[in-house]
Order: sequence, then structure tokens, then C-alpha cells
Amino acid sequence: MMEKELEALAARALERIEAAGSPEELEAVRIEVLGRKGALARFSKQLGTLAPEERARVGRILNSAKEQLERSFEARKEAFHRRALEQRLEAEWFDLTLPAPGPRPGSLHPVTQVQREIEEVFLSMGFTVLSGPEVETEYNNFDALNIPPDHPARDVQDTFWVEGGHLLRTHTSPVQVRGMERLGPPLRMIAPGRVFRNEEVDASHEHTFYQLEGMMVDREVSVAHLVYFMKQMLSAVFRREVSVRLRPGYFPFVEPGFELDIRCLICGGSGCAVCKYNGWLEQLGCGLVHPNVLRMSGIDPEEWMGFAFGLGLTRLVMMRYAIDDVRLFQSGDLRFLMQF
Ligand code: PHE
Repeated sequence: MMEKELEALAARALERIEAAGSPEELEAVRIEVLGRKGALARFSKQLGTLAPEERARVGRILNSAKEQLERSFEARKEAFHRRALEQRLEAEWFDLTLPAPGPRPGSLHPVTQVQREIEEVFLSMGFTVLSGPEVETEYNNFDALNIPPDHPARDVQDTFWVEGGHLLRTHTSPVQVRGMERLGPPLRMIAPGRVFRNEEVDASHEHTFYQLEGMMVDREVSVAHLVYFMKQMLSAVFRREVSVRLRPGYFPFVEPGFELDIRCLICGGSGCAVCKYNGWLEQLGCGLVHPNVLRMSGIDPEEWMGFAFGLGLTRLVMMRYAIDDVRLFQSGDLRFLMQF
């Protein structure tokens, strides 16, 4: 009697295990049949009411039904698990043959890039690229450039003085002196480099910035040569033909001295916010080398003459890329640097 019921129950349970559509459904069947308070447990309790030999026989049947159900339950559970894994593998598919992104390459600082472009232009015209120390003598930075002893630039307000009467060069012009002394005439040189001025820092002033110096000394050198070389350089940097003009400008080491402007690149000269409505952009200081400067560096001004110029390289890079804050250059900010 109990045997029949047991067989029927086991058969139904097997069917339900096979038919379970999800792990949850399967678990529900397990609890109902094999759980602590499940159908088999109830049978097991009733065993006590049977005669001893009956009890042993039905007990064996009960155990084997239980084992069979447990096995098919495990098999079904395993099948669900395998299917879930297969689905995940299908969904999360990686292409291991794709090339890896690799390390992000660095890039040259915008000042370095423009500096190199200008060096190319001058190297192709027979100039040498020179460099000089950032800590200079007072003689090279001022005296040899005909800058009088009481000139305001020598004040601590404008110059960083260091021990032993040395200073941080306030311009690249001392490299003119070094070039003339070392190489002698005829001479074509440029000298890019870092310079320092004791200045309050804001969006357009830095205590540390870059200049590019240039000098040509030969038997016949005129303002026309100067203008020619300046146009070559500025057209290369701005990648178009530029028009230039000279205004008188005072620098003790040149005579005559000029400020050189280019026609505004934004408005073409008609006036805009960038050129402050005057149509021109100031570029650099220049002039014909003062005879005193040649003489002090051992060059006879009766025999030789020259031109010199000094350009604010940092400022030029700001114009070229429309950068409106000079502090960005030395910020080390990768969001800025990665744009170049
Ligand atoms: N040394 C000057 C400056 O720093 C620029 C300059 C260089 C002017 C050479 C004339 C000739 O402003």
C-alpha cells in the first residue's frame, strides 16, 4: 500500500524535476520532495507504524527512491549551471587577437616644437645654433651689450642676482657676446634659450620664459637683410606670407634699433580685439649691432657690421596656438600638454 504511493510519488517527482524550467523551480521541487519537511520525510515518519519486516523492505525502497531523486536533481542542477556558463561565455566574448592599445607616446613641448622649426629655417640659411649658460656674468648680460651701469634693468626689481655678482640672464643677448668672442666674423648665429626676470606672475607675465636671439655679422649687412630674414622666419612659423613693419625702438646694443611688427593675422590689418584695433602685432626687438658692442667683443666696426634680433619665443608660441595664459607652459598640466 505504502509502496505503491511511494512509487507514484517518486515517478511524479522525477517528472517535475525533468520539467523544471529554472533553477528556482527545481529548488522548489527539491524542498517539496526531499526537504526536511518534504514528502519523503513524511513517509519516513510513517515507517514506524509498519511491522518490522515490512518496515525494512519499505525503508530500502524509500532510500533508493531518495537516492535516485537526489541524483536526478543534481544532474538537472548541473545542466542549468552549464547552460548559464555557456550563455555568459557567449555574451562576454573577448577578441584576444586584437592588438593591445600600447603605451601612450609623449610629445614635445610646444615651445620646443616651434624652437625646432625656427632652427630648421635658420640652419637652412647658413646660421649656427648656439647656446649659453643661464647663470651669466654681469659683464656678458649688460656691460658687453653697451647697457650703462645705472640702467634700470640691472636693478634687483628686474634681475635675479645670485652669489658672486652673477645673475640669471635676463635675455639671450649675452649669447651674442659669446658667439662673437668664440667664432669671430663673419658670423651667422641664433640662440634659443630660457631667460629670467624678477616679475610678478600673471596670465601674460612669467619670471621664466624663452627667447630666441639671432645675429649676423659680415662686411655688408643692412636693414634689408634683417627684414628679409625676419620675414622668412615669421612666414615659416605662421605658415603664411606675413607683412612686417619697423618702428623705432631703443635697445642700447643696436643702432638704429627697431620694434618689428607683423600685420595682424586675425583681421589682416583692419583692426580687431587681438591687435587691440591697431592692425599690427608686436613681434621682436632688432637693429644693427652697435659699434661699441662689436668693438668690446674684439670685432673692428670699421671692417664689420651686423644685425641682431631678440624674439619672445614663449609669446610667439602663444600667438601661433592662440594660448591666452603664459602660466600653462610651465604648469606640467597634461591636459594642456597633450594637445601638442
Ligand atoms: N634683448 C632684447 C630684449 O630682451 C631684445 C633684442 C635683441 C633687441 C637683439 C634688439 C636686438 O628685449
